[in-house]
Amino acid sequence: MQRLARHWKLAATKIGFVPTMGYLHAGHLSLIHQARQLIGPHGQVVVSIYVNPTQFAPTEDLAKYPRDLTRDRALCRQAGVDALFMPPDAQMYPNREAGGYSTYVVEEALSRGMEGASRPTHFRGVATIVAKLFNLVLPDVAVFGAKDFQQAAVVERMTRDLNFPVKIFVAPTIREPDGLALSSRNKYLSAEERPQATVLWRSIQLARARVAKVKKPIASKKLRTEITRLIATCPAARLDYLEFFDPVTLRPLALVHRGIRVALAVFVGKTRLIDNAML
Ligand code: PAF
Repeated sequence: MQRLARHWKLAATKIGFVPTMGYLHAGHLSLIHQARQLIGPHGQVVVSIYVNPTQFAPTEDLAKYPRDLTRDRALCRQAGVDALFMPPDAQMYPNREAGGYSTYVVEEALSRGMEGASRPTHFRGVATIVAKLFNLVLPDVAVFGAKDFQQAAVVERMTRDLNFPVKIFVAPTIREPDGLALSSRNKYLSAEERPQATVLWRSIQLARARVAKVKKPIASKKLRTEITRLIATCPAARLDYLEFFDPVTLRPLALVHRGIRVALAVFVGKTRLIDNAML
């Protein structure tokens, strides 16, 4: 991969990169489309598919994370992807379990709250793999989805802090007609759970409606109570976290007003879903 990327660089060809964990859906395809738009018809679009073990805790869904490489390959071909990079674990983390791999990238501010609080080693894994992928793919631009807003913020910070010569682009969340954000993990939802999974989007809509209706800021505590009540109406749903936060610092805010961001994680059955939006 690196040899190919260096070859492109020597020919002054732009490289657009979309890192994924596979099981591609319309959300990923929109990122691929965005990468193409950003680098133009003569650039090279690279997609990586790698289910990165270091961003999963031992209790999480690494082993059962959905995979369908045949379908992913066909979708990439249809979407005009120039190179599909699918490295094996043994090359990304040689002998990791036996201590053969020991270098990690840790972002220490933006990765603390929300996903980082619920999944303490998650962003260390994400920052590490994204740094490694940047060094292999040598992209000019890399596209991430806004559904993982905190991830995009951590990647932007890491890119700036470690001087990666990569421009980060964050593309909007793609949703089902009923508002459910597209995610490979939606596949886990049962027929009873699927309609209840819209509660994340309904929570965001509720917050938006409240903020739009009043001129003064609202206490986040009050809004949290209302949303918690809404989530409680779904028997399969259990709130993991709900946060109103500053979109730049990601610090939690006690007062909610237009322009700030809300993010939440909800277990629907055993499936943990996340979503976020600007208010
Ligand atoms: O968002 C994802 O799919 C993953 O976290 C990423 C960025 C590909 C790193 O493994």
